[in-house]
Amino acid sequence: MGALDPSSTPLKSLAESKGFLYGTSATPGDLKDRQFTDVVIQQCDLMATGLQLKWNMLRPTPEKYNFGPADELLGFAQQHGMKFQGHVLAWHNALPDWFGSYATPQNAQQLMLSHIKTVVGRYAGKMHSWDVVNEALLPSDQRSDGLRNTPWLQLIGPDYIELAFHAAAAADPHAILFWNDYGIENESPEHELKRKFFLQHLTALRQRDVPIQAIGIQSHLDASSKHFPGPQFDAFLHQVSDMGLKIMVTELDFTDSLPSSDSAARNQLIASRYEQYLDLVLKHHSVIAVLTWGIADKHTWLNGNYKFPRKDNSPFLPLPFDTNTQPKPAWYAMARAFQNAPSR
Ligand code: XIL
Repeated sequence: MGALDPSSTPLKSLAESKGFLYGTSATPGDLKDRQFTDVVIQQCDLMATGLQLKWNMLRPTPEKYNFGPADELLGFAQQHGMKFQGHVLAWHNALPDWFGSYATPQNAQQLMLSHIKTVVGRYAGKMHSWDVVNEALLPSDQRSDGLRNTPWLQLIGPDYIELAFHAAAAADPHAILFWNDYGIENESPEHELKRKFFLQHLTALRQRDVPIQAIGIQSHLDASSKHFPGPQFDAFLHQVSDMGLKIMVTELDFTDSLPSSDSAARNQLIASRYEQYLDLVLKHHSVIAVLTWGIADKHTWLNGNYKFPRKDNSPFLPLPFDTNTQPKPAWYAMARAFQNAPSR
């Protein structure tokens, strides 16, 4: 497949015409790649911070904040008319090395709240949306509320979730605040259980007037899965929408387990799964944004230290552009799904 016909309508325009956004995550390293920046400028109207606002990148010491790299991303997004999404505030992962010996039950709440005040306050008015709480569900941790037994939960208690949302809303009343999670997309008992707990928490947060406006569905999906998202997931999206919450697909990409020798078949399968998934999701008018986690296979996180590599260790093909930043069948599948989406 050759270069994208310059007359092809970019994904962001197709999305905009239906009333939602299309974007990608990015890092300052990605911005050094001209092919990456060209395609992102052409295709995207939303950019999420890939790594730079994670605690371990932002806070080399308890006293110091290193905002430079995130500011660089924001500058790029602003220069090219893209909205900006912050990732991430309260998460069990990517905590700095000093966290374990520094955080205590006595100081953890203050540590989290002052972090949120500082970071969200700094970007107030410039953020489209904030990933406030990430991956907070893990039923296999065996708590009766389905919450993951994270350091934040251990140190603060389950209220850390609503405390985080209140602090974020106080620091930036205009950003869309969301709870981002994964493992809630498939037609499997595990995913259905996680959805059940998610709905319980969302209902309780709404009842207590906690300022949460949206959920993020990460959507790291397996194109080869027998449990591909279907009616149960659709019902979940209905229920979330009925609560008045918005929905974002925040980290879409696809693994697959077809033989590596046939990349054409793999790319066809992945494309059909992109279209199938987006057709299902975009039917819901509450969906306000779709982001892929990266945009070209060259930069995908799945071909680095991903903990479930392919059996033969060959590269995944998860994104709409290939390693030479040329459009793949998945790009055309996304374009079709965007075109077929109802307006919101
Ligand atoms: C990933 C990054 O893309 C990688 O570069 C890093 O090594 C690990 O984290 N869910 C999330 C993201 O919320 O922060 C993760 O990003 C991907 C899974």
